[in-house]
Amino acid sequence: MKLLAIESSCDETAAALVEDGRQILTNEVISQIPIHEIYGGVVPEIASRAHVEVIESLVTRALAGETPDAVAVTYTPGLIGALLVGVNYAKSLAFALKKPLIPVHHLRGHVAANYLTYPQLTPPFTALIVSGGHSHIVEVSDYTDYRILGQTRDDAAGEAFDKVARVLGLGYPGGPKVQAMAVQGNPFAIRFPQVEFENAPFDFSFSGVKTAVINHVHHTQQAGLELQKADLAASFSYAVCSVLARKAVTAAEQNTHRLVLAGGVSANQHLREMLTDVCAKKGVELFLPAPALCGDNAAMIGAQGYYEWLAGRQADESLNAYAMMSVEQPKF
Ligand code: KG4
Ligand code: ZN
Repeated sequence: MKLLAIESSCDETAAALVEDGRQILTNEVISQIPIHEIYGGVVPEIASRAHVEVIESLVTRALAGETPDAVAVTYTPGLIGALLVGVNYAKSLAFALKKPLIPVHHLRGHVAANYLTYPQLTPPFTALIVSGGHSHIVEVSDYTDYRILGQTRDDAAGEAFDKVARVLGLGYPGGPKVQAMAVQGNPFAIRFPQVEFENAPFDFSFSGVKTAVINHVHHTQQAGLELQKADLAASFSYAVCSVLARKAVTAAEQNTHRLVLAGGVSANQHLREMLTDVCAKKGVELFLPAPALCGDNAAMIGAQGYYEWLAGRQADESLNAYAMMSVEQPKF
């Protein structure tokens, strides 16, 4: 079954053709980074307009002359105006072609990037999902059977990277820039908080480490000292990645002994190395998405879309977009 998938939840417009959830036939992405860069972050209204401008030509390129068997689309979570562009386009196309319309939850799509990376990977497994808006540890019992074991109580991990990048004057998007700076620094130079909750061992909090970074920058400036940006980036990255790795691997140890990494932050080299290390020590099998599939793309939506379709999730032209929706039982 060939699925055309469309993704427009944030600052990437993407379309892909994916066969039976596992094989990428085409995968087209247009990033809006150059458009938002001058503002230091994503401007939602500009994002929506930029999606509108390219979606038609992008889908045409992804289809490469083929007629798909179904159309899958990210309908939640994300920027509402941005999501609506993809959802409306997908609805029209499915209607015109008389093909099924399959709604896909963006975070489930990130997890499915691993089905494209590892053809033999099947649930059950534990997943650490870390993106710009979410940080979750989930139990994936089946392709569409999700249970949240823990999540962030405030900022997402990617959000913390973006804010620290802004404080250090590194610009947007912050994650890759903080990573590049961190490799030149000492991760043990500054001790930043790693938050634990008594009765929720898999919950996260990243607002404290973000504030600690801001305070450190202010104190250094007030004391007239030179800011050691590389040490700061490395120490911040160490604090965030350690807590992510420790909790995710513990959750996997208590459940499936298999851990899948997903979401934009999964591109982080520090996190990948730390997870590799801890999983090897604890006897947990680790799955890391291919670097090209870590960020937002439509191939991952096509992969998950196939399994959503097998589970009977099919929408009609009344499908709406939602800025927020639980990954456990996403309604449409
Ligand atoms: O999944 P994603 O592309 O978009 C959302 O669904 O949110 O994730 C984007 C997030 C941003 O916060 C970005 O800074 C972060 O992923 N990110 C990284 C890296 N690459 C992207 N964070 C840390 N290190 C990276 N190399
Ligand atoms: Zn994403």
